[in-house]
Amino acid sequence: MTSAFKDQMLAGKTAFVAGGSSGINLGIAQALARAGARVGLISRDAGRIEAAAGTIRAAGGSALGLAADVRDFDAVEAALARTRAELGAIDIVVSGAAGNFLAPALGMSANGFKTVVDIDLIGTFNVFRASFAHLNKPGASLIAITAPQAHNAMMFQVHACAAKAGINMMVKCLAMEWGPAGVRVNGISPGPIADTEGMARLAPTAEMEQRYKARLALRDYGDKSDIADTALFLCSDNSRYITGTIIDCDGGSKLGDASADALQPPPRA
Ligand code: HXC
Ligand code: NAP
Repeated sequence: MTSAFKDQMLAGKTAFVAGGSSGINLGIAQALARAGARVGLISRDAGRIEAAAGTIRAAGGSALGLAADVRDFDAVEAALARTRAELGAIDIVVSGAAGNFLAPALGMSANGFKTVVDIDLIGTFNVFRASFAHLNKPGASLIAITAPQAHNAMMFQVHACAAKAGINMMVKCLAMEWGPAGVRVNGISPGPIADTEGMARLAPTAEMEQRYKARLALRDYGDKSDIADTALFLCSDNSRYITGTIIDCDGGSKLGDASADALQPPPRA
């Protein structure tokens, strides 16, 4: 945890992280645990999610790893029920399970498109919808992990762009419906984050990585800890009046293409 946050500020709270076996979401789960929260994690793969929970326990935290596919509402419900039974009523929910692959629309089957929408968009609805009954409300904080693809159209990602755009609107609708119960719903939109499966798929070579960085205002990838810090803020009292918002933690990705060679100013007369 970075010095910006009080030690153990989530002591006594329970978090549930969907898609927590690796990458950005595991980084969030580990940060929540370091801040004192007990953490339930799910992903499809029993071995991977147990190993992820093991990293938290090895660091002295409390964690339960369960296999559940976010496309299966009943499986998500069962995992939430077990998390509540073993770790206590839930205060924080992070929905970050996702799939992505680069393919042109004409090289993508209907099932390929549907698979990504099912995991990202329907999966987030399933996680949030099933969570509500288990929340230790008011004060509960729900966080969706979205992406710049939600508003920047991108080649070869019609599935992820459509799914993440849907997530952004879902965040706003649920924030309105659940605000009266004291439940906050927000999203985090990470830019390109180093050492993740996402960027390994989108920019697999060093040259592609350099081109990606050149387009960003801050000219560099972010770290998993940047997203974890944003999540800590969104589930702390420091953000108690923030709901229905997407926080762009993206080095300026949302601003568009900042690369110098995209457009050159004409010489001044
Ligand atoms: C075209 C493809 C394809 C590809 C899969 N499909 N890969 N089509 N090009 N490269 C098609 C398959 O042919 C199939 O359609 C359909 O998609 C479902 O494939 P399955 O393998 O059966 O699906 P499943 O086992 O559910 O796996 C889901 C997956 C996979 C999304 C396809 O890649 C996965 O498990 N991903 C999880 C990890 C991941 O993607 N992490 C990165 C998240 S990062 P047919 O018609 O043949 O049945 C991210 C980036 C955000 O989201 C932004 C960063 C800036
Ligand atoms: P990642 O490591 O591949 O994380 C994806 C997670 O989702 C894995 O734990 C995976 O675990 C799980 N998952 C996939 N399908 C699932 C399903 N059907 N049910 C349950 N769990 C499932 O990728 P990442 O790059 O860290 O991305 C994490 C999140 O950040 C995603 O929401 C992504 O869209 C977002 N994001 C990433 C970047 C980036 O730079 N990487 C940028 C913007 C947004 P199993 O395989 O064990 O199921």
